[in-house]
Amino acid sequence: MSDILRRGRLSKSPDEEMRNYTSSMAADKWIFEADVYVDLAHTLMLAKQGIILKSDCQKILAGLLQIREEGMEKLDFSYEDIHISLESRLIDLIGAEAGGRMHSGRSRNDEVATCIRFALRGELLSLLDDLTALQHVLVALARQHLTTVMPGFTHLQHAQPTTFAHHMMAHADALERDIERVISAYARVNLCPLGAAAFASTGFNLDREMTAKSLGFSKPMTNSMDAVSSRDFLIECAAAFSNIMINLSRMAEELIIWSGQEFNFVELDDTYASTSSIMPQKKNPDTAELMRGKSGTVIGALSALLVTTKGLPLSYNRDLQEATPNIIRSSSVTAASVRMMAGMLSTLTVHTDVMEKQAPAGFTSATELADTMVREAKIPFRTAHQIVGTLSRGTSIEPTLEEIDAVSMDVIGEKLSARGLTQKAVKDALDPMENVKRRAVLGGPAPEQMKKSISEKEKRIQAL
Ligand code: ARG
Repeated sequence: MSDILRRGRLSKSPDEEMRNYTSSMAADKWIFEADVYVDLAHTLMLAKQGIILKSDCQKILAGLLQIREEGMEKLDFSYEDIHISLESRLIDLIGAEAGGRMHSGRSRNDEVATCIRFALRGELLSLLDDLTALQHVLVALARQHLTTVMPGFTHLQHAQPTTFAHHMMAHADALERDIERVISAYARVNLCPLGAAAFASTGFNLDREMTAKSLGFSKPMTNSMDAVSSRDFLIECAAAFSNIMINLSRMAEELIIWSGQEFNFVELDDTYASTSSIMPQKKNPDTAELMRGKSGTVIGALSALLVTTKGLPLSYNRDLQEATPNIIRSSSVTAASVRMMAGMLSTLTVHTDVMEKQAPAGFTSATELADTMVREAKIPFRTAHQIVGTLSRGTSIEPTLEEIDAVSMDVIGEKLSARGLTQKAVKDALDPMENVKRRAVLGGPAPEQMKKSISEKEKRIQAL
């Protein structure tokens, strides 16, 4: 038996099904690069500490660099994981006398935890780039559409006029919190378990600060038992990814609805559409639909991580191997979705004319009309609410002062015109753009207010 792991304690080789069942080789492609770096850092530290000879160190380093050059394909996939397969390849290349010394003072338990953190760290950084690019797209759209009036919705019913800029900035604000969550998670991912060995650390005089530093981690993890058994950093990242996907899924949902005939607010670029195999006229928003669907995959990965780790006693348990593919999948789906959303939005055709035409539909200025009654005729808001509510039972979305007076006579026994409400005030209140302009409090859609929000956000994105 040439298996460098099983030739001691175990006397039988596993059959193929058992090998496939227990192997992590497929998922370990994700940590191949990381594993080489971890091996390099550990080996250099062993030599510096006098645990291995400089000459052996040189051979190991040369072997590792060759393995990195050859790529993962050269490794023996019948091994149960990348760590042992890579070590076996090293021994093949440089011999057991030097190669067999690399794993001194180390276990696959601290090794794998370090590799996962190393690989995930890189993915978080590139995800932050993708999220920032998406922020730029949203902000650019907002700048372009400061005065594009559209109906805003609650319960998916026309509610009050807003602008497309306000809508886009709402998504940008949600994504900014996602960015903050990823940055915050990064700090807890970027800790180094190496040197914890199996769980009890080691009697070799390792320099854990050195390996942590050379691998770019902020510091070594302290308790060696915690270092190998904790996967809370995966849960935290998967939760951040899930939040991102929920936000993207909601944006995707809007793109789907808005590109339908009934709304016709937007049209997706052909790149992001598909057609039907039978209905020649169809242009379907498949990319957005898949994004909505893939959010299920990412949320599923989070729940898999929670359930996989919840009952594990300290320290390392092999169950942890099942956690890794979930973070790989959720990370790559999330990053791709962020890039797709940036692509869909930056190429989107916005039908400003349709949005503007629809802005008053459904009596969206009813709230402003009631507010105007409060300001001009000095009646309580609840009374104004009743008067306008009664007026909206009719079909007209533009009640005249006479119609308003007729209802107010019924409700309060007085005409609002007699209390100072003018035809001009009514007309202004019914203008959607005027509605928007008046909503100038912090966070409101008024173009002046939006401009401020946009430039503040631009500054924050630059500072990232
Ligand atoms: N493939 C394993 C994992 O992903 C590596 C660690 C294996 N350690 C062990 N003692 N069996 O967790």
